[in-house]
Amino acid sequence: MKKVLILTSGGDSSGMNAYIKSLAKLCKKNNINLVASLFGFQGLVENKIVDLHVENMNYIENTGGSIIKSSRSTDFMTKQGFETALSNLKKHNVDCVVVVGGNGTIKGAYDLSEAGVNVIAIPATIDNDMAFTEKTLGYDTACQNAAKLVNDIRQSMDCFERGLVVEVMGRDCADIALHTAIITGADVCVSEKIAVGNIASKIKNVLDDGKLSPVVIIKEHLFDAEQLAMELGSATNKTFRAVKIGYAQRGGEPSNADKMFAIELAAKTMECAMNSEFSVAIGQQSGNMIAAPIKEAANGKNFNSAKLIKLFDMYHGC
Ligand code: F6P
Repeated sequence: MKKVLILTSGGDSSGMNAYIKSLAKLCKKNNINLVASLFGFQGLVENKIVDLHVENMNYIENTGGSIIKSSRSTDFMTKQGFETALSNLKKHNVDCVVVVGGNGTIKGAYDLSEAGVNVIAIPATIDNDMAFTEKTLGYDTACQNAAKLVNDIRQSMDCFERGLVVEVMGRDCADIALHTAIITGADVCVSEKIAVGNIASKIKNVLDDGKLSPVVIIKEHLFDAEQLAMELGSATNKTFRAVKIGYAQRGGEPSNADKMFAIELAAKTMECAMNSEFSVAIGQQSGNMIAAPIKEAANGKNFNSAKLIKLFDMYHGC
């Protein structure tokens, strides 16, 4: 193993930089040259490939985003773009490509592996929506960020005895919404499309129980948060405010759990690279680091938040 290329693609997640630095350390220790494709797959198409040195990575493990940038490359998805990417990879004599990102990114990684490239994929997304691994890099930080923001905003809501609707990210997966709702003790968590009347009647029960500032957490893409706040206001006679937390969930210093996960992911990556174990995606199952077939990782989505739903329901009304 002489040369490894790394890229980060799709929505960034906190912990990507910690992973890059951990891999850079291990590459240096094993005399492997580490290079990066800038802006994810787009850098492969445009031949934007640069050397990476751990000496220039002071404290990046404590930052969000990705020092090697990201994008959702549409060029890479075209036949011509994909072939250009392959020929650029050949020019750089890369022995292994490490692809870091979410669902769409792992699919791109799978395409490269099908074209004969030695690929190792790393699950990094705040959404926690991959079936082959019990957690994705950045999910813990996103939940921590969301819970802190909800608790902060709630102090102001309490002052006015207002209700609060908070929309969190997660694409098609409700894990961030449920996790945030459980941690903050929210009154309602909307993880799938339901009638506004149902949400309103849950709020009425909460108000009848004497609560003055009910909190509703909603997964993105289900409702217009402002509109929902207005409708809940009219149905319950309580003023509601709406907040979309948005990108604040993706940024900031990774949690210790995500830093540790990044370190473990890089260790397992190096183990696989040194053993020439390619076409795999690294993840965690039952607390252990695993290397799953990349085909399985690219095809399985986790939209099953049943465990979190059960936990939220157990505490509901407490
Ligand atoms: O997949 C990560 C994610 O943050 C989703 O939760 C969200 O729906 C999406 O990316 C936002 O994408 P963009 O950065 O393109 O606005």
